[in-house]
Amino acid sequence: MLALSLPNSKQSGNAPRHAEIIGWGMCAPQRVVTNEDLAKTLDTSDEWIRERTGICQRHLVSDGETTASMAIQAAQRALQVADADPREIDLVVVATTTPDHVFPSTACQVQDALGARHAGAFDLSAACSGFVYALAMGHQAIASGEHRQVLVVGADALSTRLDWQDRGTCILFGDGAGAVLLRTTDDESGVMATVLGADGSGGELLKIPAGGCAVPTTHETVAQGLHFLRMDGRLVYRFASSVLAEATEQVAKKAGWEMADVDRVIPHQANVRIIESAAKRLGLPMERFVVNLQEYGNTSAASVPIALCEAVEAGNIHPGDQLVMVGFGAGLTWAAAAVKWGIAADEVVVPRYRQWLRWGLYQWAHLRSSVRRRLSLWAVEMIRRTDRWRGR
Ligand code: ACO
Repeated sequence: MLALSLPNSKQSGNAPRHAEIIGWGMCAPQRVVTNEDLAKTLDTSDEWIRERTGICQRHLVSDGETTASMAIQAAQRALQVADADPREIDLVVVATTTPDHVFPSTACQVQDALGARHAGAFDLSAACSGFVYALAMGHQAIASGEHRQVLVVGADALSTRLDWQDRGTCILFGDGAGAVLLRTTDDESGVMATVLGADGSGGELLKIPAGGCAVPTTHETVAQGLHFLRMDGRLVYRFASSVLAEATEQVAKKAGWEMADVDRVIPHQANVRIIESAAKRLGLPMERFVVNLQEYGNTSAASVPIALCEAVEAGNIHPGDQLVMVGFGAGLTWAAAAVKWGIAADEVVVPRYRQWLRWGLYQWAHLRSSVRRRLSLWAVEMIRRTDRWRGR
């Protein structure tokens, strides 16, 4: 057996368990589409998009790239940072509203690709709030004592659900994935409090009308563009501006923190004006907010973990820092998590041989999965032939 167990994992008797973030990773597709690129085919301009949203460009999936492929890359990077053994993951939660398939879940695809053989896996649907919802679920699974290690991923490829003729929506979104690995600790760090909220009466404000069982896919629904995202931008803007500040305030209070003691807010990256308005309401300077939407646009469930990764890698988050991650989105939904950061990014050094060991585990998982898939196809074919031979 390859030895990739996590070092120095602490857990004593009845101490309260926290879920600490011990690994982080992200994936953004290579293909970049700038505002100028969009202005070539749409009645819009770089100036309008920058001024009204703050977005300059977005990364979009190309052929062969999917929500699952991005989620897998982000997850592998998170495991790399944590120097973790995929076989020790207990649960994989993927927040997405653009899964590769209705089923199997994207989480099962991630679980399979990692070789996380002992993990349960499920997708969670809460649109742009999805990652923070999933983080709350991972935290609960660990705090309850049920699980020790939970992989939480936010991944979306909303570009596949956009009407590229609708300038009111298509300019806003990008694709990507971000992941964190949570591990149980009895240190005073990790997820300290969470707040989840929903208001289904606002469901019509942000919606993909067809493709579910209410409006199944037909030639007509495709022709009418009912599979594309539709949004009432102004009302969503109003909702977002107030809920971002309220949820941040609520979760800080629940964690027992003063607003002034929050070192960084990592908000959903929808529109810089929404973030500025929340900063004003909270009385916090914009420097405390992590903003990277100029580079990625709104990547839905991936936006908070991508912003977290970039901030950590840039050295802007330090051990002991008090963070609030906060999302809002379709549903309507909102979610916030207060997290006390525990790890210095520059101290993460993973020996080369352990990277190779992990790479070997992924290759082995791929081989094992391919063989099992072929075997089940072969078994189905054998049963069919036997039935035919028996004259059934
Ligand atoms: N280029 C040029 N003009 C445009 C564009 C564009 N891309 N889009 C809209 N316009 C025009 C409109 O047609 C309108 O013209 P009119 O006055 O002649 O009718 C004018 O610009 C103003 O339109 P508004 O909708 O009032 O523009 P606003 O300043 O509200 O910005 C925006 C629109 C950027 C969509 C904003 O409302 C917004 O950010 N809303 C929130 C979106 C959001 O956060 N979504 C989260 C989704 S989360 C999830 O779960 C998926």
